[in-house]
Amino acid sequence: MWKNGAYDLRNVKRGLISAIGLAAALLGLLAPSSFGANRAEEARVARATSGMVVSQQPLASRVGLEVLKSGGNAVDAAVATSLALAVVHPQAGNLGGGGFLLFYRSRDSSSTLIDFRETAPARAQAEMFLDATGEVDTLKSLYGHLSAGVPGTPAGLYMAWSKYGRLPWRSLVAPAMRLAQDGFKVGPDLAAAIAEEEPRLRRHRATAEIFLPHGKRLQAGDRLVQKNLARTLRLLAQSGPLTFYEGAVAEAIVEEMKRGHGLVGPEDLAAYRAIERPPLRGWYRDLEVLVAPPPSSGGITLLEMLGVLEYYDLSAIQPLSTYRVHLTSEVMARAFADRNTYLGDPDFVRMPLQGLLAPPYIAGLQAAVSIDRATPSGGIQPGDPWRFEPGGAGGPVKLGGVGMDTLRTNVPPSNAREGDHTTHLSIADAEGNIVALTTTLNSWFGSGVMVSSAGFLLNNEMDDFDVKPGAPNQYELVGAGANGIAPGKRMLSSMTPTIVLRGGKPWLVLGSPGGPRIITTVLNVLVDRRDHGLTLEQAVASPRFHHQWKPEVITHEPGAFASDVAKNLRDMGHVLRERSQWSSAQCIEIAPDGTRIGVSDPRTRGAALGY
Ligand code: DON
Repeated sequence: MWKNGAYDLRNVKRGLISAIGLAAALLGLLAPSSFGANRAEEARVARATSGMVVSQQPLASRVGLEVLKSGGNAVDAAVATSLALAVVHPQAGNLGGGGFLLFYRSRDSSSTLIDFRETAPARAQAEMFLDATGEVDTLKSLYGHLSAGVPGTPAGLYMAWSKYGRLPWRSLVAPAMRLAQDGFKVGPDLAAAIAEEEPRLRRHRATAEIFLPHGKRLQAGDRLVQKNLARTLRLLAQSGPLTFYEGAVAEAIVEEMKRGHGLVGPEDLAAYRAIERPPLRGWYRDLEVLVAPPPSSGGITLLEMLGVLEYYDLSAIQPLSTYRVHLTSEVMARAFADRNTYLGDPDFVRMPLQGLLAPPYIAGLQAAVSIDRATPSGGIQPGDPWRFEPGGAGGPVKLGGVGMDTLRTNVPPSNAREGDHTTHLSIADAEGNIVALTTTLNSWFGSGVMVSSAGFLLNNEMDDFDVKPGAPNQYELVGAGANGIAPGKRMLSSMTPTIVLRGGKPWLVLGSPGGPRIITTVLNVLVDRRDHGLTLEQAVASPRFHHQWKPEVITHEPGAFASDVAKNLRDMGHVLRERSQWSSAQCIEIAPDGTRIGVSDPRTRGAALGY
């Protein structure tokens, strides 16, 4: 059963691989209209020879495309698209949040990562979100001023531009400024987000004035003008991010914090720095995979999953077949156990990153996966990657005083309906430079708090910390304490901007919103494309599933599994849970002849635009 070093599934229990399930699944994925019927006239899939921009909002993609056409490179276009998203996709695009920008430079085949993740304010404390009984007070960690970390977006975009951009900074801010000043037609995604979050948006006056003018929520087709935001963008155009960290906008943030008893002070803003880091680099079969390092967990977790999956000859089975779902879920659960235990901000926590990817460690994970039985989450514990880490453990990871045995399993289903709260954009320029950029406010509209006079929303990223080790956060992630709150620390993220090289050249540019589902979305799109030979369009449209160790469930999109596949999975011991809101992949493939194929997820109404 071993073939070319890979475990050949063809010889194992073929009967479980359902032909009916496969046919049904393929029919489903080849009919993306079931997700995106009547989508806007903008292109969900586009082909072009020179440049390509894919984002979750057509107007923002248009901005990026124009920047490329006027001689800007991929970084210029990413900065302009991202700033435009802050205006036209304000539920996730942002100035008051953070993110990770992964850049591949064609000239010397080098790559780099700009980390502009938010930080905890200096006055933050480990137990700041616990109530008198020691339980998590989500009203504080998720909503309102206390939930905001120090914003990183202005610093990060500026750093990317100042090191790697080409066009004048002002010209990249100008399109966003115009969209804010002149207004734009609210699209259906924004209208839906406002409708869903109306009660929360109503709680803050400045926020309500923008999204619920005269008390009535904006509808698709209404015009949204954001004068205060336009003014802030003008300041950003004129003086760069300094205005955010030490100037007029910083003052507005501090004033807002005082009003709402938040913690971000002038010293926090002045101390904020974007950080350039080397990307993590891994291999999957014939592919080289470039990803963001911690404080994003996405990259290392993706590489760990790919490492184990490489043992299986997945090309011999079908997407959404019993074995594909079973094996992938088992692998996902194990990688999430490690993620939740070991990962955090590299400036605060030592992590066994090499150990997690060491071949003997990966081999151990693979050996523990049963071919035909689900492992209960209680039966999966984080591994001991320190054994394979050069230099060893160097002292245990601080676990916040909570032993693993106190971690809860089978947490109740969450009410969180998060799916596309974050936003990803992928860009390829005519010279072959690539950017994968994921940015977020965390929840839709972040904390819901708008910096009143400055017209932008603040994030609620503090909830991404292990607010209480052992207790699930809004994404049901259960951390062990390595990601605990500390002043100046970056909270762990799942954002997974990814660039995949084949034959040494960029092949795929991947990324998505979706909280922890970001990581598994990227994994599934990559495996569907590489191993199952789906086109990128099919891979992006293919129904999604996800396992994150705790809770002990495979979550999946409605109709993802044929009934016999679902039955097989249950018979193997898996628990299945359906959820309707999912992620939104915004991807590019570069064909061998150089054609750029942009694919915007049919689940949302973004656009792939090329020239
Ligand atoms: O950084 C993170 O992992 C989260 N703040 C991302 C949130 C997200 O993707 C929400 N979308 N569903």
